[in-house]
Amino acid sequence: MAQESSARTAFSRHGPPALVTLAVALALGCGGRTGGDRATDEPPASDRVEQLLARMTLEEKLGQLAQYPGGWNPPIIEERFRTFIREGKVGSFLGVFGAAYTREMQRVAVEESRLRIPLLFAFDVIHGLRTVFPVPLAEASSFSPELAERSARVSATEGAAAGLHWTFAPMVDVARDGRWGRIVEGSGEDPYLGSVMAAARVRGFQGDDPSAPDALFACAKHFAAYGGAEGGRDYNTVDISEATLRDVYLPPFRAAVDAGAARFMSSFNEIAGVPASGSPRLLTGILRDEWRFAGLVVSDWESVRELVPHGFAGTRAEAGRLALTAGVDIDMASGIYAVELVDEARAGRLPVAVIDRAVRRVLRAKERAGLFADPYRHSDEARERAVIRAPAHRDAARQVARDSMVLLGNRTGLLPLSPKLRTIAVIGPLAADQESPLGPWALAGDKRDVVTVLDGIRRALPDARVLHVRGVTVEGEDRSGIAAAVRLARRADAVVLVLGETLHMSGEAKSRASLRLPGQQDELARQVIAANPRTAVLLMNGRPLAIPELAARAPALLETWFLGVEHGNAVADVLFGLHNPSGKLPVSFPHESGQQPHYYNHKRTGRPARAEEVWSSKYIDAPIEPLFPFGHGLSYTRFEYQHLRLSATELGPTGTLVAELDVTNAGERPGVEVVQLYVRDSVGSTTRPIRELKGFARVALAPGETRRVSIELPAAMLAFTGADGVRAVEPGEIQVQVGSSSADIRLRGLFRITGRRTPVSDRVVYSRATTTTER
Ligand code: NOJ
Repeated sequence: MAQESSARTAFSRHGPPALVTLAVALALGCGGRTGGDRATDEPPASDRVEQLLARMTLEEKLGQLAQYPGGWNPPIIEERFRTFIREGKVGSFLGVFGAAYTREMQRVAVEESRLRIPLLFAFDVIHGLRTVFPVPLAEASSFSPELAERSARVSATEGAAAGLHWTFAPMVDVARDGRWGRIVEGSGEDPYLGSVMAAARVRGFQGDDPSAPDALFACAKHFAAYGGAEGGRDYNTVDISEATLRDVYLPPFRAAVDAGAARFMSSFNEIAGVPASGSPRLLTGILRDEWRFAGLVVSDWESVRELVPHGFAGTRAEAGRLALTAGVDIDMASGIYAVELVDEARAGRLPVAVIDRAVRRVLRAKERAGLFADPYRHSDEARERAVIRAPAHRDAARQVARDSMVLLGNRTGLLPLSPKLRTIAVIGPLAADQESPLGPWALAGDKRDVVTVLDGIRRALPDARVLHVRGVTVEGEDRSGIAAAVRLARRADAVVLVLGETLHMSGEAKSRASLRLPGQQDELARQVIAANPRTAVLLMNGRPLAIPELAARAPALLETWFLGVEHGNAVADVLFGLHNPSGKLPVSFPHESGQQPHYYNHKRTGRPARAEEVWSSKYIDAPIEPLFPFGHGLSYTRFEYQHLRLSATELGPTGTLVAELDVTNAGERPGVEVVQLYVRDSVGSTTRPIRELKGFARVALAPGETRRVSIELPAAMLAFTGADGVRAVEPGEIQVQVGSSSADIRLRGLFRITGRRTPVSDRVVYSRATTTTER
């Protein structure tokens, strides 16, 4: 009863069914045969698709829009799914993989169903299938789109050999709050770095041809602003301004569209009162009308059904109708499209044209994947055996892992350690953890493939005595093991102390209110460092941590994140100086958890924080600055910056400035510096961030070498969304800041944008960087 009355209320709020039907039918140009949608660049459907569509029953059409979790462990088709496939009540599966398993599912579809329409198989190949690479946040620390593309390429090769057509990656959510556990899945807090990485990963997954047998269709997720959850609590409400949505959260999605991403996933959250999975503005207005996206939109897991608990739909049926009409083509997991929408359509509350639009997209996607020609093209067991865990994939994983670490501190110059050490103590709860280096979302990963830190050190120093004790567990209050750890530390020439979070502490639904090291790890660190000042602390974690005491105490501090199967080998390469670290933080580390959300490109306020000024924007019990800023990361060598030259002092709104500078390796080891270019727009018609990253260059330098670095800055990169909702470049003064981190600016310049306020598209504009050797 309550259900019915709430359904009625919700109905009236979203408009009478007849009117909805009419409006949608008119908008779609109902009855037309093209299948091309007025508002997008979707190609017209092929004859095959049209002929199929004409033969499909309503149930079969809605079946194509249903996606169910098939499971892979064990790889046995559940009887109900076998029936669904036979009856044409499912179009795709998620969470399945394996050549033999997907082949059998496909066989049922193409041999035992009436219309013989092949299935699509999707899986969360986030940072590798079986060869697990560093988590995306780690990979973003490399500031290397080439490496991100390479790891996605390898991941696609393995996924496609295991029967898959489609990955639910890249996750391109900008995340400004370290409490949010899913920060680990993306590229951190900066929209520009996030866009560069999003595009690189799409290119990597899809290759030149996303339907090639070694490629996967990429799926940009979670659309949109999922990372803006209040309080950093997963699935929570997002309430942000239009300008923040447009200028901070959307750019990586736009970058994914422009790079050719074939799929989008609608997110769980609401934005300003409208859940994303029921938002016509996001899914049709922005994605299709503005960006001309021509691919498929899938909901997140039951996010269609969740329109009900959001209080946006009164019934499951209404939730389905709202989501499909808004632009969610495929309903992941909730089964609403396949079940409740049948009656909705029969009763005339949902135009068949809306259903057909989505079905055409699904059939076209299957056609594009080549599945009508060869439904088994990805389900080849011989290829699966040859490709998965190929030695070259492990090599790639090690290389990406080495460049994903960030040297946070090296106060006493302890690192790199000498490879001639005789006795080394490897201490800490994560030192021999066989599983955590895989990180979250390594669903098909196998902990037996993992090289732990302890293994990596043993392999690197076969003649040394490598002692190990855990000391404490990651969580829990027991300190009784610390004494043994201290004894070991005293006996060793050097200590490697591995602390952090387990893989289960970040990722989906893993928000933490505290960013401190959990359990008794701080105490372990305090006592071990006191026992042996030659202690290098390694952090393994999936979010920024608030670790001011540890940072002050640790002689050396290396952020390793979760580096995948080659974790221990890559760590040893860096510890013993075979590889010079070059990673930079893609997220700011705070002093205190209470500083969250915390990000470098924040606004200024009318009362910027000043130590001597009481009435300024700060805390009375904590700093407002980061502990480690965005872009921070040290090297075993030193870099000097000189001679910044800007190509102009004035620039029109369509011009491009070139910033040139010299970078010198002033130390004794070869190294790579990530040169970062920031701008600060002095005065705007709406307020501007204190600085924003607009370009970067990875510069490899031999000892003593100087290179001239040129970084382009197209004026269009300075555009922002004004109070009128228009994205435009405004005239005025722009400060150029070049440096080694967002808080280590070495060179500054100034120029002016001339002319009038000029609207520009929201396509992501990239800065090109080149380096030349200085003579
Ligand atoms: C829910 C997660 O939010 C999403 O990222 C993932 O792709 C789907 N589940 C499928 O596993």
